[in-house]
Amino acid sequence: MVSWEIIREELSKPTIFKGKESLAPEFLPDKLPHRENQLRDLVASFKHLVTSPGSFSQKVLLVGSVGTGKTATARIFGRDFVRIARQRHINLRYVHVNCHRNRMLYNVVLEMARQLEVPLPQRGLSVQEMYTAILSYLDETNVYAIVTLDEFDYFASIAGSDAVYFLVRTYDEYPDMIKRLNFIFITRSTASLSLLDSATESYLLKHIIKFDPYTSKELYDILKYRASQAFYEGVVEDDVLKYIAEIEGVDKGGRGNARFALELLMLAGEAAEKEGSLKVTVEHVRKAFSVISPDVAMVSEAIYYLPLHELILLWAIIRLLKNNPQPYVRMGDVEKEYIMLCEMLNEEPRRHTQVYEYVMNLKRASIIDTRISGKGYRGRTTLLSIRYGPLDALERLVVDLINKRKMGTL
Ligand SMILES: Nc1ncnc2c1ncn2[C@@H]1O[C@H](COP(=O)(O)OP(=O)(O)OP(=O)(O)O)[C@@H](O)[C@H]1O
Ligand SMILES: [Mg+2]
Repeated sequence: MVSWEIIREELSKPTIFKGKESLAPEFLPDKLPHRENQLRDLVASFKHLVTSPGSFSQKVLLVGSVGTGKTATARIFGRDFVRIARQRHINLRYVHVNCHRNRMLYNVVLEMARQLEVPLPQRGLSVQEMYTAILSYLDETNVYAIVTLDEFDYFASIAGSDAVYFLVRTYDEYPDMIKRLNFIFITRSTASLSLLDSATESYLLKHIIKFDPYTSKELYDILKYRASQAFYEGVVEDDVLKYIAEIEGVDKGGRGNARFALELLMLAGEAAEKEGSLKVTVEHVRKAFSVISPDVAMVSEAIYYLPLHELILLWAIIRLLKNNPQPYVRMGDVEKEYIMLCEMLNEEPRRHTQVYEYVMNLKRASIIDTRISGKGYRGRTTLLSIRYGPLDALERLVVDLINKRKMGTL
């Protein structure tokens, strides 16, 4: 095929994305399901900026593990609070500084000045001079500001206690000044603040807003909302969203990281689009999972050492999953398939209790996931699934290993 034909063919493939950019990590959605309380707490903390601006300088600490919506919540709060304050004729600005990029006090203060558009002289200023310039500029222009120091852990550990003290105690030296600067500090844990001297640490811990890892139910709601913005209707079935939510939900042993869940959804969408598929399936999620999860190599390593009957059982699970639009298959069906495969391979099938033991071994090796069926299934049964894919590649590896075991070459 000549190049223009390839280009034309690729362009003519149907698209399943309505707005793919809305799945990008830096995209700010219109709403954050399950972060309403944190948003309310932020409003309560900064309410004085509209009721009695300048009366005091607020400092709030947002704490939560990776991907729990801290950055997104702060940015959305900042964006919308500023808008509403302006309607009430209060000149409020929101500034978001990433301390991963700006780890020294000098860089943080310079970045604040830049975002607040404070005119600075060409000659180099000291940190103190620059900070004073910011404070007087705010006074002269009658501006209030909320400054978020994101990934504050880095700043605290690298810039140290004195630098944190400098910012936290901004107005201690000027008790009569109008308090125009307010702060939001974001950190993954409070443990990183224990490096600070105890007075500064306890000062920071006074107002905490916690971001717990998301449960699978919460992740499902988040994915559902974000998917409705990113994909055309009907492209992603609920089962697929539930499956991703269960992989990452904190109640199911995941980390509760929304960023990871959304990335998985986006990569699954890309895998579907590449194939020209009009639907995103569980198999696309498996492929995506193998792309982003660093422990896939570990899994094939673990597979390498499995005894023959665990390999046959794994093959049975793969075969059933391949013909199944749902992410899980039932234990009973797996056992039947296993017996059938044993007959085909001329192997004596093991008894039920032994087979169950194999399932537990595969689970312990993190090769499969298990759960007990809930609603939608008759009776209670163990359900099995595999995160990794594509299943065809996994099947080839497993069959190859079975053959080698049978021939005694491995
Ligand atoms: N409740 C939510 N609803 C919709 N999207 C969310 C929600 N929480 C997080 N997200 C999305 O998940 C991604 C990660 O969120 P965010 O960057 O705010 O996490 P974080 O807590 O700052 O993580 P880190 O500690 O790694 O910086 C973002 O793309 C964000 O838009
Ligand atoms: Mg963040």
